[in-house]
This record gives sequence, C-alpha cells and structure tokens, in this order.
Amino acid sequence: MSTDGVDNSRRRFLTAATSVVGAVGTVGLIIPFASSMNPSARAKAAGAPVEVDISKLEPGGMITVEWRGKPVWIVRRTKDNMDDLKKNIGHLTDAESGASKQPEYAKNFHRSRTDHAEIIVMEGICTHLGCSPKYRPELAPADLGDDWMGGYFCPCHGSKFDLSGRVYSGVPAPSNLPIPPHMYLSETVILVGLDTAEGAA
Ligand code: FES
Repeated sequence: MSTDGVDNSRRRFLTAATSVVGAVGTVGLIIPFASSMNPSARAKAAGAPVEVDISKLEPGGMITVEWRGKPVWIVRRTKDNMDDLKKNIGHLTDAESGASKQPEYAKNFHRSRTDHAEIIVMEGICTHLGCSPKYRPELAPADLGDDWMGGYFCPCHGSKFDLSGRVYSGVPAPSNLPIPPHMYLSETVILVGLDTAEGAA
C-alpha cells in the first residue's frame, strides 16, 4: 500500500478535476449568481446528480467531487483493504451500519454496491461537527498507531473512520460517514445523487 497517502490523495483530486463529466467544479462558482441562472443551471446548483468518470481511478486512489455543496469521495480499495475491513469490527461503534445513513444496497461491511464492492462512494463530512476528515490509507503510521489499517482521520477532534467510513469507538463522531445514493451508468461512469434507472432518465 502507498505510504504517501496525503500526496496521493491530492494528486487524485487534481486528476478528478479533469475527469469529472458533470459541471462539478463550476457549481460553487455558480451558486452566488443563482438568480440569473436558467432553469437547468439552477437545478445543477440545487443538487442535480453528478456523473463521474472513474476510468483512471487506481486501487488505493480517491476522487473528490462536489454534490449538493458537499465533498463526495470515491475510493477504489485494494484487495488487502477489503480483507482488512473484516478484521477491525471490534473497534467500531456501528459495524453493521444500523444507526448510520446509507441506501439499503450499501448496508454491508464494504458499504458499497455488491457488484462493485471495492469502490465506495461516501460523503466527506465528519458526523461530529462537520469538518472534512483526511484520507489516510497507509498502514500503521506513527501518529495513528500500530493497529491502523487505513481510513479517514478528522483533525478537528480526532474522530477516526475505517475505509468503509465506519466510525471507531471512543471518538466524538456518533455514526458512520453517510453514503449518498449512486448508480453505475457503465463500468467507468458513476452517477452520484440517484440510484434508479427511472431517476436517471
Ligand atoms: S468535526 Fe470531526 S471530530 Fe469533530
């Protein structure tokens, strides 16, 4: 696994900036001028679904897009990551996601669609007070301890989440990171914000 998780994450973000199919990058700039928008632009700013090209997303990589004004992370986990997700259940507050927010198809240990289990789509907002946690995929870094198997660390008050966004016990955040509705338009394009073919039409 990469040991330069932060730099790698930032590199992925830059890649994402050119690969996102929808008008994600412009949403934040458009909002202040909502009153002058046409209906289509207003719909996008209000939270229309966002298409994301994941063809260049490598194992261990992350893409960040914006949906409804929030960062949404798309991460392709490695096989080792998937195996590790089954080992840390004893450290988690809500391992089964019974008290957390996700669509029914993501209520499993990998918190993703089973036909693309290694890819997770989640909101990058801490469930404590709303900071954005940092992607820390490396194993056992000095600041997070020998038993850290990769995940997300919130620098505001120290909450920790695993690579499924499941919150660790004994931290301020009360629940797992939310999973937004999403669906696959093809093997390489995800639609964030809708999860039915009817809705996508
Ligand atoms: S906002 Fe993340 S731990 Fe407080």
